[in-house]
Amino acid sequence: MNELKPLKVAIIGCGTISHIYMTNIKEKFAILDLVACADLIDDRAQKRADEFGLKKMTNAEILADKSIDLVINLTTPQSHFEVCKDILNAGKHCVVEKMMTVDYPEAEELCKLAEEKKLMFGSAPDTFLGGGWQSVRKYVDDGVVGKPISVNAVITCSYQPVTATFDIGADNFFFPLHPGGGLPYDLGGYYLHNMINLFGRVKRVSGFGGNIDPTRKYVNPHHPKYGEAYLVNTPTSLSGILEFESGVLGTFLVSSDSAVYDSFTVQGTEGNLKLFHPNFFSGSIVLQRPGAIADEEKQIGMLKETGYRPAPDSVELPILHGYCDNNRGLGVADMAYAIKNNRKPRVHHSLGLHAMEIIHGMLESAKTGVTYIMQSQVERPKMRRTGVEIGTAQENSLDD
Ligand SMILES: NC(=O)c1ccc[n+]([C@@H]2O[C@H](COP(=O)([O-])OP(=O)(O)OC[C@H]3O[C@@H](n4cnc5c(N)ncnc54)[C@H](O)[C@@H]3O)[C@@H](O)[C@H]2O)c1
Repeated sequence: MNELKPLKVAIIGCGTISHIYMTNIKEKFAILDLVACADLIDDRAQKRADEFGLKKMTNAEILADKSIDLVINLTTPQSHFEVCKDILNAGKHCVVEKMMTVDYPEAEELCKLAEEKKLMFGSAPDTFLGGGWQSVRKYVDDGVVGKPISVNAVITCSYQPVTATFDIGADNFFFPLHPGGGLPYDLGGYYLHNMINLFGRVKRVSGFGGNIDPTRKYVNPHHPKYGEAYLVNTPTSLSGILEFESGVLGTFLVSSDSAVYDSFTVQGTEGNLKLFHPNFFSGSIVLQRPGAIADEEKQIGMLKETGYRPAPDSVELPILHGYCDNNRGLGVADMAYAIKNNRKPRVHHSLGLHAMEIIHGMLESAKTGVTYIMQSQVERPKMRRTGVEIGTAQENSLDD
């Protein structure tokens, strides 16, 4: 019998996102055996330990425990560097939530350390491994839009200190308005990971903006600091252009200074794709392409009448891969199979590092007015295979 030997895993950081990680690891991934958790706030670690039948430990106890193979770092971005460094120095594999660190030099240091120690290290987001994004990858690779020419991302929302509890105490610490958590990192990272997954390495970037409006006010009269100014010390509005090695051109606009909007599109020689928010594992994939709706008579009629090819018709494409619901932790499970099968993890650190450098490059370019030449190397992660089973059997698709 070929019995699966699960990897012993612990989580550091027991805040909001830890719940879905723990649920998924316990229910969905036979390759992972979650045994312990820790948090700076002891009560939080205890709560999760009770909920999920884990051992509550301190960070130091987790690091010293020889039976733990891999640690998931779910702390806030400002703690990512220090906690990841400790995990790697303790000789354990590590997956950290997005983005890898607060800045690019710290991310480079961690990747170098992982390589020196020959440990696997990777960062979220892992939504690009979901059924929707893997299907988009297959459609693009199979030429459904012809030759890809451009990719465009717009993500805006209004992150203002509006609540009566904004930043009062640990429970209300709003990391997207603190270093490393700004919107280019917080939501921008999802789009960048998907762009790299679809089109590979970026050669050059240019950028504009950064932190165009650093001073905000506590606007809720119920907040004890009502009316006082609040300094946002992280980039909030950034616009940039990316040139991929493949020749594809990208645009990226991200802002937490404006109202909510998001769009992600790909344009090719034969058609366009209207895609969904990469914060999700799956969603609607719409192909706009002349002839996508088989109404030949209408098309020929229009062609004869106007002399032009008919306007693109839209059709929704089917999802081809499994893992379409909220599967946070999928990247960790993939890394565990990578360890088992001695292959590269799909959330390899080069991907997270490249995404960090794209933001870094845009910010540098915004300051200097000069196009930034990317240094980091990355390969597109291997696509998951299609036609997977349902339910927990989907995990089989990671065992490659
Ligand atoms: N909240 C979300 O919807 C969401 C979604 C996807 C990804 N993420 C990412 O997940 C990470 C955590 O986000 P969250 O929303 O759970 O934050 P959170 O503030 O709710 O929880 C973070 C926890 O980490 C603990 N912590 C901080 N520094 C620590 C340290 N040095 N050692 C031990 N514990 C420490 C805090 O006490 C806190 O309990 C972030 O990187 C974020 O970008 C969050």
